[in-house]
Amino acid sequence: MRPFSNEPNGFARELFSGLPGRYDFLGELLSFGQNARWRRELIDHIVDVHPGAILDVATGTGGVALQMVRRTGATVTGVDITEPMMWQAQSKVSGAGLAAPIFLVAGRAEQLPFDDNSFDALAFTYLFRYVADPAATMREMVRVVRPGGPIASLEFHVPERRLFWLGWWLYTRFVLPVAGWITGGREWYRVGRFLGPSISEHYRVYSAEWTSRMWAQAGVRNVGMRRMSLGAGLVMWAVKGDG
Ligand SMILES: C[S@@+](CC[C@H](N)C(=O)[O-])C[C@H]1O[C@@H](n2cnc3c(N)ncnc32)[C@H](O)[C@@H]1O
Repeated sequence: MRPFSNEPNGFARELFSGLPGRYDFLGELLSFGQNARWRRELIDHIVDVHPGAILDVATGTGGVALQMVRRTGATVTGVDITEPMMWQAQSKVSGAGLAAPIFLVAGRAEQLPFDDNSFDALAFTYLFRYVADPAATMREMVRVVRPGGPIASLEFHVPERRLFWLGWWLYTRFVLPVAGWITGGREWYRVGRFLGPSISEHYRVYSAEWTSRMWAQAGVRNVGMRRMSLGAGLVMWAVKGDG
């Protein structure tokens, strides 16, 4: 069950290798359709500047990449460490009749195979819980964006108001594992059990405010953030600085 555990990023590769077949459907179902809203908000912060080339890190099955091509007409390069997720992305891209190409590249956010300032914009989604050093990973991603290029991210978050937090906690600790098992079997039960504690632990160590300061230290300016769906989602955005 743990063929990748000794590799860097082994846990994430193992977790996601069994998910691509039902990922898009169950991702929306188990988030009550909120994931689609959060993605739209993320992309709103990218489209304004009419980018020509966008990098989508942790592209997974390519849902964000496809929407970015449709909304901007830009060329999108999707990077991910889990090949089975990208095979699913490839099959979606092939049937989509897109006006601009999506290039899919197997690679790590921590060590991107691109030159400095290669992209006009950067998006990344649900990434930081899977990397050992979010600050170093952020610096690496910022490196490949041209000065002035927009950057936006989407992550899960923990609701802060007591009542919302309680509802979220009950949902993630009890409903999600059971619903995952019923709809997707053993692999999704495992994801359902993992997700809530993983989100709580991440924000115990790296708060949204810490993340905002970390972004600024990585060389971006005008950092903004919006908590969405009672605080269960977090969209952040910024622009790469000039120096
Ligand atoms: C929850 S999925 C999100 C996929 C997609 N962005 C979406 O919104 O549907 C997280 C993705 O991050 C990828 N991932 C995890 N760690 C990574 C890393 N260090 N570098 C690149 N991709 C990574 C996983 O393989 C997985 O496909």
